[in-house]
Amino acid sequence: MKFAFEKKETAQIVVVFAGTKDNELVLSPPAAKFDRLSKKRISTAANAARFKGGASSVVTIHSPANGVDICLLVGVGEMSKINGDVIERAAAAAAKAVLTLGPSDMLIKLDGWGKFASGENAARAAFGVGLASYRFDKYRTKLKAEQKPKLENIVVDVEAAKNEFVHYSALLDGVSFARDLSNEPANILNPPEFAARLRELSALGIEVTVLGEQEMLALGMGSFLGVGQGSIYPSQLVVMKYNGGADEKPLALVGKGLCFDSGGISLKPSGGMEAMKGDMGGAAAVSGAMLAIAKRKAKANVVGLVGLSENMADGNAQRPGDIVTSMSGQTIEVLNTDAEGRLVLCDVLTYAQEKFDPSCVIDVATLTGAIVISLGSEYAGIFSNNDAMADKVFKSGTISGEKVWRMPLAPAYDKLIDSPTADMKNVVQSGPGAGAGSITAAQFLQRFIKDGMAWVHVDIAGTAMKPIGDDPREPTWGTGFGVRLFDRLIKDHFEG
Ligand code: BES
Ligand code: MN
Ligand code: ZN
Repeated sequence: MKFAFEKKETAQIVVVFAGTKDNELVLSPPAAKFDRLSKKRISTAANAARFKGGASSVVTIHSPANGVDICLLVGVGEMSKINGDVIERAAAAAAKAVLTLGPSDMLIKLDGWGKFASGENAARAAFGVGLASYRFDKYRTKLKAEQKPKLENIVVDVEAAKNEFVHYSALLDGVSFARDLSNEPANILNPPEFAARLRELSALGIEVTVLGEQEMLALGMGSFLGVGQGSIYPSQLVVMKYNGGADEKPLALVGKGLCFDSGGISLKPSGGMEAMKGDMGGAAAVSGAMLAIAKRKAKANVVGLVGLSENMADGNAQRPGDIVTSMSGQTIEVLNTDAEGRLVLCDVLTYAQEKFDPSCVIDVATLTGAIVISLGSEYAGIFSNNDAMADKVFKSGTISGEKVWRMPLAPAYDKLIDSPTADMKNVVQSGPGAGAGSITAAQFLQRFIKDGMAWVHVDIAGTAMKPIGDDPREPTWGTGFGVRLFDRLIKDHFEG
């Protein structure tokens, strides 16, 4: 897909916007102009469709005027609430409506719409089209021509967006990379294959190091290694170092990368188990964010670490009741082999802090089913020991459209994971004190955070993958959630 930002009058597909004020339709000036040009065909179609400018609703008008094949009138909702996120989603809705139709050239008309036609908004319109056009068709060998995307050339008529789009173009590549990783099935994307794909990031100036099981054993990562013990594939710890900043401590991003989570001996029910090919969504988010910041040459130091493993039921698999020793020296009683994400993350968190002395650690993981019960697939859950950092992540979520909601941590929850036989247990069994599964998982991770280290844990079990739904920016099951959030956080708070 090609993007350009220049003045242009017409194209095969013309996209214009409209909002709502006092429950009435308000055409943007470019929409009003096109309405006059088409002898009121736009407003007539809007009335017939009872279109009031509702956010991301689309009216399609065929052959409206001089040579235009399709005009899309797209709603942006309440005029007072228009922002980059709204414009991005509206443009994505437009792209979704015409992606596989005949025409290949689209013109998005924003110029003349006052403050709404900013370079930032125009770049985000293009970004929205890019997000909506993402496909994962590599295993569909029988697609007919009319099922394949035709949309190819996108022009937004705001020249000032050219610079802003350099950033969003890199971000689009990062999101697509994360989505590809999530959508890929586990028979293809096993830990060594995942590591091989990350090695290629070195072409972007990222220093990539892969630690194998021998090296992890030498480091004492007994907790991480126990998880992959039943798999035919060796676990891998991939470190991606990007130094774009001055001589400052790095931000560490740590991702859970379970290429498949069967639950292990605490086997999951078979219904829906296929979704656990996406249990590497945290690792995908970290990888995509690294790709994006390296491509756009962010002025920040960031180290990404992903713990890649496969949790299988096997003669050599770890058993419920096993006690493992983590790299931190703390021992863990593994009461449920399906609470494996925390077992991987705790060693990677220890390694990240000891090896890189970061200014802040953020981990991201499809960690608990409980966060899906709490927040569904709209918001990811965040947990933090640092109010200022939690605020920054929250704000980055609002701006990027990848929303997060803060959940509590407290000593009373921490106490629940004490074990009579080891330093801690990896789950709270049913009975009094059970429940709050996302919080006790976060409490577990916090036991591996050094005193004074700013830390945020992001639970993306509900947002990293979901059935294709309403949001036109998420056209496949794997959403790539986290890439936009981290990119925004780095841009606004870690670049000097
Ligand atoms: N990978 C799962 C969590 C998950 C569930 C991710 C649904 C995405 C969608 C995790 O490893 C897991 O199995 N968690 C258990 C923990 C329990 C055994 C304490 C859970 O949430 O049920
Ligand atoms: Mn599990
Ligand atoms: Zn898991």
